[in-house]
Amino acid sequence: MQTITTVAELRRTLAKARSADKRVGFAPTMGYLHDGHLALVAASRAQCDVTVVSIFVNPTQFGPNEDLSTYPRDFLRDEKLCRDAGVAILFAPDAQEVYPTQFETFVDPGELAKPLCGAFRPGHFRGVATVVCKLFNMVQPDVVFFGQKDFQQCAVVRRMTNDLNLPIEIVTVPTVREPDGLAMSSRNRYLSEEERRRALAISRGLFAAADEFRSGERNVEKLVAIASRHLKTVDRLQYLELVDGDTLKTADSPLRRPAVLCVAAYVGSTRLIDNVILALPTP
Ligand code: PAF
Repeated sequence: MQTITTVAELRRTLAKARSADKRVGFAPTMGYLHDGHLALVAASRAQCDVTVVSIFVNPTQFGPNEDLSTYPRDFLRDEKLCRDAGVAILFAPDAQEVYPTQFETFVDPGELAKPLCGAFRPGHFRGVATVVCKLFNMVQPDVVFFGQKDFQQCAVVRRMTNDLNLPIEIVTVPTVREPDGLAMSSRNRYLSEEERRRALAISRGLFAAADEFRSGERNVEKLVAIASRHLKTVDRLQYLELVDGDTLKTADSPLRRPAVLCVAAYVGSTRLIDNVILALPTP
């Protein structure tokens, strides 16, 4: 595995792969890697010849009162995980490499960035879309892998990729969970043992609603109410919404199209997000 920190060296290295007609897979991350990230690497290795992982804690997607300075970092551990997972190139630029002093051009996502996390984290998806677009231009991958836990991020990136005619395939990889159901997240490390137990309410609520959905329940209010009963133990629920899988607008009841039940909640001072896709059985 090569660890690369500059765009120039990344381009030089990838040019060789491209001239040998290799298919380049890419998993963008902010580091502090867990099994969810490694599932992106595994998916990329299954579909591509060369896998690139980036580690960059992107300042433009954090709000002024968010956890940019305390975001967990452990580069040496991440580097070893990537090497062991068969990553070919680990791209770890510093902030100046990504946002040189004169930087002033942003990607402004549209409606998909407004509800859910967008409503609570102003500017977040502008920062995500901007850095993802820049990373796409730096790596120029054939396929990019994102985790389903960040469902809205996947939707925003997919739309950006289509809208800006980027010749890249976007693949969403199912959420990886701890054995008890908690969605894997770098932020889980902030949780105390007691908070970790209470955080289970999130996946339990989502699974309870998904079970009812599988048993035939199609009423949006009822499905949300089922999840909501479990969510009493979180400290602050930001949103619990059943949204259309394409538009991210509140789903019409009864459900007739694929929908996603999405949650963002604070447990202690840690903000966690999760979702389940409620896909109608194919007739
Ligand atoms: O999902 C993440 O880790 C980040 O939002 C991403 C896609 C790496 C952009 O900074």
